[in-house]
Amino acid sequence: MNVLLIGSGGREHALAWKIAASPVLAKLYCAPGNPGIASVAECVALDPAKHGEIVAFCKENAIDFVVVGPEAPLVAGIADDLRAAGISVFGPSKAAARLEGSKGFTKDLCARFNIPTGAYQRFTQAEAAKAYIRQQGAPIVVKADGLAAGKGVVVAFKVQEALDAVDACFDGAFGGAGAEVVVEEYLDGEEASFFCLCDGKTALPFGTAQDHKRVGDGDTGANTGGMGAYSPAPVMTQDIIDCTMRELIEPTMRGMAEIGAPFSGVLFAGLMITKDGPKLIEYNTRFGDPETQVLMLRLKDDVLLLLKAAADGALDQMSVRWNDDPALTVVMAARGYPAAPEKGSVIRGVDAAAENEAVEIFHAGTATKNGELVANGGRVLNVTASGKTVQEAQDAAYAAIARIDWPEGFYRHDIGWRAIAREKGDAL
Ligand code: AMP
Ligand code: GLY
Repeated sequence: MNVLLIGSGGREHALAWKIAASPVLAKLYCAPGNPGIASVAECVALDPAKHGEIVAFCKENAIDFVVVGPEAPLVAGIADDLRAAGISVFGPSKAAARLEGSKGFTKDLCARFNIPTGAYQRFTQAEAAKAYIRQQGAPIVVKADGLAAGKGVVVAFKVQEALDAVDACFDGAFGGAGAEVVVEEYLDGEEASFFCLCDGKTALPFGTAQDHKRVGDGDTGANTGGMGAYSPAPVMTQDIIDCTMRELIEPTMRGMAEIGAPFSGVLFAGLMITKDGPKLIEYNTRFGDPETQVLMLRLKDDVLLLLKAAADGALDQMSVRWNDDPALTVVMAARGYPAAPEKGSVIRGVDAAAENEAVEIFHAGTATKNGELVANGGRVLNVTASGKTVQEAQDAAYAAIARIDWPEGFYRHDIGWRAIAREKGDAL
């Protein structure tokens, strides 16, 4: 099979690494890719926003299957354009990607199909949103409706913060994504990420993980795209997984089919495990980053066959096996991330740091300049390791980091703390 992978981050490096190990792969291309991906795929300088160029490349290079990594091209309809050209693709249609592209759409779907989530209202006017906030009180959550690169959510512990967030949205802080605002009930509990491969009819559970969204140790500081993750998420017991399938995922699949937008691709549910059971925080319609890095390290089966089965509507014939050993990834970010990451600093020692066979280092935001590896984004490297315990995986990841020579980089020192505390039997 000739495969084109779309994207350029750590998530795509992890997918490329695993796809490259598939016996059914003939040739893997990645657009645009990064220097890490270049070690397992041929990177091609195509812009994923230019669907016509992607389709033309697929035709010229006999591409059998396209795997789309990031959300922006999906929400812009790249899967529809590829399918219209007769090319098989892993990823939802534009209509189905509204599950990520519009928070209001998802909340309305939850209301209509009885899917557990926080109470909410949608607003297109600041005054009405503010009146609702004053009536509900804090804590309360304000979200820009559209895609805002993870920045459009304010969890407000004071009414004034929520009112300010409404103003920021309607004043254009998130461009078109903030033209509508969702105000939502604050959910209390432990967060977890849950993944399902979907083919329009069948949803196949595809692993659990926990992410660390805050930039600083002890879950402090600004929200980020994720500073590290581990899998599995201990809070996702088989009972909670079964309940999530029954009460959230299956009604979502039925609901999407019923409104004429059957969901195929990966459904990534951001969950809050509350005292009343799992509730939906949000859906993403693509793999998590950095969650994918730990999932790929644990996956025993051929990812390419699984993704192709999702695209072909054949998931009812598939199963998934995981390595029981946990995996953990630590994000190394460029100084200044998330506000203003510095680009261009030189990174040395990455290959030597990955010598331990329990360790894989995925590139997220790197480039090569004058033959050296340099930082080229906010999140730069994902140092990923497996172990018999989360503690062992964490030790291996930090030992690898200690071998990387990059003074301009930083990372959190406590990735996995919650799972490690559980391993030690500490009260959380
Ligand atoms: P999102 O971009 O929707 O993933 O939101 C970013 C983060 O805000 C989530 O990972 C949660 O930690 C938090 N969050 C979002 N919605 C809620 C909610 N309704 N209650 C509590 N926390 C929330
Ligand atoms: N790590 C969270 C995300 O991919 O959205």
